[in-house]
Amino acid sequence: MNALLLAGGLGTRLRPLTETLPKPMAPVVNRPWLEHLVERLRDQGIRDIVIAVKHHPDKIRNHFGSGKKWGVNIRYAVEKTLLGTAGAIRNAEPFLDDRFAVFNADIVHDVNIASLVRFHETHGGLVTIGLTEVEDPSHYGAVEQDGEGRILRFVEKPKKEEAPSRRINAGIYVMEKRALAYIPTEREVSIERETFPLLIREGAGVYGTLIPGFWMDMGTRERYRTLHWEILNRKTGIPIPGEERSSGIWVGRNCRIGKGALLIPPVLIGDRAEIGDRSIIGPYAVVGPNCRLGSGVRCSETILWEGCVVRDETHLHQCVIGCGLEIGSRQIMHQAVMNRLGVMEA
Ligand code: GTP
Repeated sequence: MNALLLAGGLGTRLRPLTETLPKPMAPVVNRPWLEHLVERLRDQGIRDIVIAVKHHPDKIRNHFGSGKKWGVNIRYAVEKTLLGTAGAIRNAEPFLDDRFAVFNADIVHDVNIASLVRFHETHGGLVTIGLTEVEDPSHYGAVEQDGEGRILRFVEKPKKEEAPSRRINAGIYVMEKRALAYIPTEREVSIERETFPLLIREGAGVYGTLIPGFWMDMGTRERYRTLHWEILNRKTGIPIPGEERSSGIWVGRNCRIGKGALLIPPVLIGDRAEIGDRSIIGPYAVVGPNCRLGSGVRCSETILWEGCVVRDETHLHQCVIGCGLEIGSRQIMHQAVMNRLGVMEA
């Protein structure tokens, strides 16, 4: 069984950060999320990985190449036009084994692949959908199942009290290759809105099973930031780079922390970062490698990507600042999301 990672979407909700890179390449605790995902699959025994790319495909291909550095074999299914979450799977057909796993590459989770596959085998479905339980399913499609786990229907964006369950599609599937016959070619097809409902109508055997543990979709600015705070609060097994100098304070190699600077946990400082005198960083801050922060800077609930410069006395709260940007002195920024190609302030 090999794995297909869907990584070609435009990531519109995370713009402008995704103007210059695919969403799954956004750094998560200072490394592209896709690296974490590839390593997590490898550690569970999946060595043959296909990545479905479209938006900035070279950012992924040039980064991973053959996958050798990660101890896996990576191939790329490239789309000429955006084909959607099902169209991308169909397009990858020549690369896929008779049974394969699919992962939305923008989802952070603790899935145990072996137990998902075991469920798939014992129930004999064409597709097994990993499900996760959320507090309020009204922004998602809630799932109705029978006692065997067979999915009877998806109820799109139900009112909380009318939802058949709190279980939603986690964006992780085990599929038989025969299921591809249900996906039309050469046009955009959504697996959630089109293919799964069709398979259910046809009685083709669509099952769902709960994936226990951490699950989070990083597709919006708020969730992208919250994901980091969950990781720093150790809600997931995602490794946090650097030396933990005291509880909740991680500092990378060759950093310079100025006189009187305060690091308030949880906080992560990347390799070679410089924090100016009297700066207050945290709580909840990730400073990318090679960032330079001047004196008297304040930075809370904020993520700085690699190589940012923040001049003296500037305050950042709930911001995400893209690679290599420079913020002038004495600025006060709240909920700014910036990249070289644009600024979006809430
Ligand atoms: P939004 O534009 O903000 O909705 O983001 P998105 O479309 O990039 O992501 P969405 O959450 O809708 O999709 C889930 C996963 O599927 C993400 O990892 C996307 O990169 C991926 N994906 C979505 N559409 C396509 C597609 O047409 N082709 C490929 N290869 N991947 C896709």
